[in-house]
Amino acid sequence: MSEHDQVKMTEMNYDKDRPKAENPVKIEDLSLRDGHQSLFATRGRTEDMIPVAELMDEVGFWAVETWGGATFDTMHRFLNEDPWERIRTLKRYFKKTPFSMLLRAQNLVGYRNYADDVANAFMDRACENGMDIFRTFDALNDYRNFETVVPKIKEYGRHFQGCICYSLTEPRLGGEVYNLDYYVSKAKELEAMGADTVCVKDMAGLIAPYDAYNIIKALKEAVKVPIHLHSHFTSGMSSMSHMKAIEAGVDIIDTCMTPYAFRTSHAAIEPLVMALLGTNRDTGFDIKLLAKINEILEREVMPKYKHLLDDSKVSTIDINVLLHQTPGGMLSNLVNQLREMDALDKINDVYRELPRVRKELGQVPLVTPTSQIVGIQTVNNVLFDDENDRYKNITNQVKDLVYGLYGKTAIPIDPEVQKKALKGYSRGEEPITCRPAEVLEPELEKAKEEIGDLSKDTEDLVTYALYPVTGKKFLKWKYGIEPAPKEVQPRTLEDVKKEDELVKKAKAGELVEKPTKAPPEKSENLRTFNVFIDGEYYEVGVDEPEGSPVLRKIQQMGAMPAQMPMMMAAPSAPSAPAPAAAPKPAAAAAPAEEKKEAAPAAAAEGTPMPAPMPGMIVSYEKKVGDSVSEGETVLVLEAMKMENALPAPASGTVKAINFSSGDSVKKGDVLAVIG
Ligand code: CO
Repeated sequence: MSEHDQVKMTEMNYDKDRPKAENPVKIEDLSLRDGHQSLFATRGRTEDMIPVAELMDEVGFWAVETWGGATFDTMHRFLNEDPWERIRTLKRYFKKTPFSMLLRAQNLVGYRNYADDVANAFMDRACENGMDIFRTFDALNDYRNFETVVPKIKEYGRHFQGCICYSLTEPRLGGEVYNLDYYVSKAKELEAMGADTVCVKDMAGLIAPYDAYNIIKALKEAVKVPIHLHSHFTSGMSSMSHMKAIEAGVDIIDTCMTPYAFRTSHAAIEPLVMALLGTNRDTGFDIKLLAKINEILEREVMPKYKHLLDDSKVSTIDINVLLHQTPGGMLSNLVNQLREMDALDKINDVYRELPRVRKELGQVPLVTPTSQIVGIQTVNNVLFDDENDRYKNITNQVKDLVYGLYGKTAIPIDPEVQKKALKGYSRGEEPITCRPAEVLEPELEKAKEEIGDLSKDTEDLVTYALYPVTGKKFLKWKYGIEPAPKEVQPRTLEDVKKEDELVKKAKAGELVEKPTKAPPEKSENLRTFNVFIDGEYYEVGVDEPEGSPVLRKIQQMGAMPAQMPMMMAAPSAPSAPAPAAAPKPAAAAAPAEEKKEAAPAAAAEGTPMPAPMPGMIVSYEKKVGDSVSEGETVLVLEAMKMENALPAPASGTVKAINFSSGDSVKKGDVLAVIG
């Protein structure tokens, strides 16, 4: 921005004399989708969007992002909210600002390519409900996956925003795959498909300021449609990248309201408004109005979500992203997955293995779902492989990727890995090269048969088709067939207040339970003990209410089981710590406190199949009595959104099946027994 663009800021009155910019930067607000998806695990409830909706409608945003991405999944699974209803509800409050959704192309709002009939039904319902802008991306940047959804967007006269997923293989833009030519040619492809805008989607916050400048400049020259930049804050570079992109002429920038901003989310709008004030790219936004929205969010909404904020680190940026060129969300998923499997010490092995697996799997961009696919396979390799036998435990999604079900990868898949992954693969051992959905059988009719009367309309049916297990559960809650469990109920400000008070008390040491009963009369069973602690002497009386006193062995302090009766807590006793051992061992130690041995999960004899990781049972492929041969799939376990086909550890007959579809299991739970 040159000097003549600047007005004399000192003489300017913010409210009255602010000149209208020649070319204002347009802003899309992401608070209500990507913001809470990034910071609060997409747990934002519709009722918490309403208090600010009308004010946000006044700001002048180019669009507000309200739907798509992970919202559909989390709403029906964790919030007991109908995802379709959210669009309709919010539309009543946003009267002028267009709605934008994140559409994973043929993946829609799920994690795999769906058949065309599901895609068409989904798009019809999204358009009918009033979605205006479809920010469409494909994890592999394979735009053949746009071929079903884009004609639908056009049919309804809506805005097609084509995305290029930003990816790197080097620390900065360049190298053999993801160089400037790559992005320019992708933008031209999108324009040729009829894109109304082209978005550079930097989901990991990888784009460095000068690379942002070069890309935006090149895209502005290569295509006519407006250019949009979506860049997460994760690595800490995005505010700088925004400024360089603005200098290069970017048309639209994504930001969040401050309470939903920074960390793994996006840069905030308020500093940008002030940074551009009075320039030829001034947003024109009223900073006081933004402040008002902020205040409501801080006071009425954020307290309900702050427990979800990852406060395990003081830093607000993740320099691992700079080191590994990998999305922050993916890294935290890996850490969580390792933690759940008691293998957090393997994190550095995972970092080392990750680029290798990614290259073997075709150097794919790392974005949902490929980030999960590559990430989980990497963890599996680190945990289950040895150098001579790699890819021992291949997820179903990797098999699908290798087969070509997600599309064409940036470079060819490693032939060794391909052979291994497709050995015995149900669709065939020879990968496809056509548009993936072409090999998918229609799914809607089958879904309709399966779900039956539980689905009342097309929206229910699509919910079920996208998420058969959790979707069915949700429909049962929705129609009152099963009660929704407590964990899916909303938290109120009252709940939060009560919890805060408890925490405050606990911190002040006021949470110690005091005996509320009056002391009983001393009985003839009372025995007294002399207790010496650090030279101090106490006399302690022990009185067993029924029969002769029985002493239990007191373990070391600190290792005391919570239910251990406090034998020394007679009111007359001084408040001294319990002695390390009772002075006079009683004749017979009661076994009462012995921990019950966990009963074996299955009584059936044979080889147990323990869950290798915590997850949810998707389906059992076998039933009791079926014969299986070693290596054959017995069941499918969903962990970290990936389906793992668990093979039979031995040949034989299925003796026991201990869970059913939809059940959550812990690591080590015996899922089945083969005998
Ligand atoms: Co994003």
